[in-house]
Amino acid sequence: MNAAIKKQNGVVFTPGWVADFMIDEVSSGKKIRGNEKILDAGCGEGVFIIAAAQKFSKLSGKKIEKVIEENIYFTDISEEYIEKTKQNLQKLSKIKITKYNAIADDFCFHNFDKKFDFIIGNPPYVRIQNLNGRKDQLQKNYITASSGSIDLYFCFFEQALKLLSEYGKICFITPNSHFYSAAGKNLRNLILPHLTKIINFDHFQVFKDATAYTAVTFMQKEKTKGFLYAVNFKNDFKNIEYKKISAQHMRPERWEFFDKKYLDKIVKLNKKYSTLQEIANIHYGIATLKDEIYIFSPEKSDKNYFYLNSFKIEKKLCVPIIKASTYKGKNQNLFMIFPYKNEKIIPRNIFQKDYPEAYRYFLQQRDVLGMRDKGGGKNYEEFYAFGRNQGLKTSFGKKIITSTMNLAPRFYVIEDEETSFYAGYCIKPKNNIDFYELCEALNSDLMEEHINSVSKSYRGGYKSYAKGFLKDFVHPQFSKSQPALF
Ligand SMILES: C[S@@+](CC[C@H](N)C(=O)[O-])C[C@H]1O[C@@H](n2cnc3c(N)ncnc32)[C@H](O)[C@@H]1O
Repeated sequence: MNAAIKKQNGVVFTPGWVADFMIDEVSSGKKIRGNEKILDAGCGEGVFIIAAAQKFSKLSGKKIEKVIEENIYFTDISEEYIEKTKQNLQKLSKIKITKYNAIADDFCFHNFDKKFDFIIGNPPYVRIQNLNGRKDQLQKNYITASSGSIDLYFCFFEQALKLLSEYGKICFITPNSHFYSAAGKNLRNLILPHLTKIINFDHFQVFKDATAYTAVTFMQKEKTKGFLYAVNFKNDFKNIEYKKISAQHMRPERWEFFDKKYLDKIVKLNKKYSTLQEIANIHYGIATLKDEIYIFSPEKSDKNYFYLNSFKIEKKLCVPIIKASTYKGKNQNLFMIFPYKNEKIIPRNIFQKDYPEAYRYFLQQRDVLGMRDKGGGKNYEEFYAFGRNQGLKTSFGKKIITSTMNLAPRFYVIEDEETSFYAGYCIKPKNNIDFYELCEALNSDLMEEHINSVSKSYRGGYKSYAKGFLKDFVHPQFSKSQPALF
């Protein structure tokens, strides 16, 4: 199959150790009658359905070829994969298999005439912008696809729930983005009452050839009140520690997997103390959208100019700046060309007159600057304007800065009021709170626990310290009673 079709159909193969575990788990504790129907949704080369056939043969005592003919169903949009799965199933038996329950069709639109006791698989991951012609049809027919930046796998969950028999079970490995994304809200609402277990691989990469943040989700048709949750960062399922999660504590806006213990602590803290956003303002840094043109480490300087490459830049147009993502408390010797006065871009005639050298430098870069925002840079107020207007005022002044991604809390007080920053956030207390005390609270174990519980993970153990996660942080130092005004 060629790469373009593979991408269009979201083809990624599941390693055997994951498929085996999923089959073991989904079939455990269930009395097997022998007439169950097992469906692999998007079977690829059949890793799930092969494991399922073997397991079911063992549990039911039926011959493998009988199981394949009577119990095993598989669907894929690709004929090629359907054929491959048939061949792979045949390899399980020396006896010729006479009948396959193969469905070479779109799982989301096939007219199924039966219900299934187990639905398993690794649905295709296809983002809305790559769904092409199918987008409208999916949005019309699937509540989970009706709004926002959805993914095809959302519809697989919805269709699987519809096709499940009265006591049926589902087990899928999928991306975990629907735990957090705005577009995942309908999917979250749909599956929450059916969840029995989630194993979140978080930043750990399960697939060999694709970067995907994934989770294994177990569901059942019968309603549940809560589920087990674990994070797993290794390529086996040994010694997994589950937390008990109560469905009533899950917020529809985004899922945070607080166990009862952490939740009790937060509820208690929340009653007594304020959140970070109540006691401080959180601001984005500068965003030029072409940092290598605006931000530099000067090769040399004299009284009036910084020198870089063959250009010189008027010092009075530059401000010191900190790159928050790499800042470790030491001077980085970085400066930014800042063509603004009172948050307004310096008009071209004044710029040319007062800063002729910087103007010459920007003119040389004009084409590159115009390519920002997919060419929208050509329509900026002035061609040397920043890509975004954020932080033009708020990035200055005394502040606490942090990177957007950290392994552990990393907050620093910046005293120099003339210094700006980028690639991160700054926090400015609203009242007379001491910057250093606040910084200590932000660097505390409580912050680490908070971020681990609410935030998103990335490769290498990095956690997002985005404003959305920071704002709800609660610390015993954030007193509820505000300082008196008189
Ligand atoms: C992520 S791959 C998983 C393959 C296999 N289950 C595995 O785990 O190794 C998704 C599979 O779904 C198939 N697929 C894509 N869109 C589909 C659709 N609308 N209906 C049925 N199958 C689809 C692809 O051809 C691909 O084989």
